[in-house]
Amino acid sequence: MKFFVDTADVDQIRELNELGLLDGVTTNPSLIMKAGRDITEVTKEICDIVEGPVSSEVTATEYDEMMRQADKLAKIADNICIKVPLTLDGLRACRALTDNGQLVNVTLCFSANQALLAAKAGATFISPFIGRIDDMAIDGMELIRDIRVIYDNYDFDTEILAASIRTVNHVREAALIGADVATVPPSTLKSLVKHPLTDKGLDAFLEDWKKTGQNI
Ligand code: E4P
Repeated sequence: MKFFVDTADVDQIRELNELGLLDGVTTNPSLIMKAGRDITEVTKEICDIVEGPVSSEVTATEYDEMMRQADKLAKIADNICIKVPLTLDGLRACRALTDNGQLVNVTLCFSANQALLAAKAGATFISPFIGRIDDMAIDGMELIRDIRVIYDNYDFDTEILAASIRTVNHVREAALIGADVATVPPSTLKSLVKHPLTDKGLDAFLEDWKKTGQNI
């Protein structure tokens, strides 16, 4: 499973990248707002840090304007992945962009049929939003399961990018189902390492090591 980090916070991205844990980054208009930075400037900085795909989202809703924005975003760096919404215009833009060799992430996916359309439009990634479905008291992970079956049924190359991840259990379940990628907030990504028995075991080893009086 590939790990993307879901943030536009450059310091967090740099830290996770140095750990060797990052395969890519996803941003969206809300994350750009949160970072309080100019979209072109911050996206360029992120693309310079991370080798993998960096999703940058169009904010237009009409095809022509989406394509104009996509062209501008694509010029930021070679590893830009254009994010388009799961609308008819977004799907049309997806097809045009992927036909041109551009990486495309189709976002705001909430149903298996939407994911089917995105795959038919040649999407590089489909982003089903697990957490936001859970918020409606419906199991978001069921959607990942359905999409996995459908994509496998028809050998679609589109990668399932589990998005709107809120917990470490979301990551575990998405991995068990076979999602290709999880895009995870920085704090959740770092939490994956935590286990009380690891801490307890390490403390005990360090205590015993002190007692040996040795140095390595
Ligand atoms: C990623 O591409 C999505 O924009 C993001 O995961 C949405 O997460 P949220 O539902 O926590 O805003």
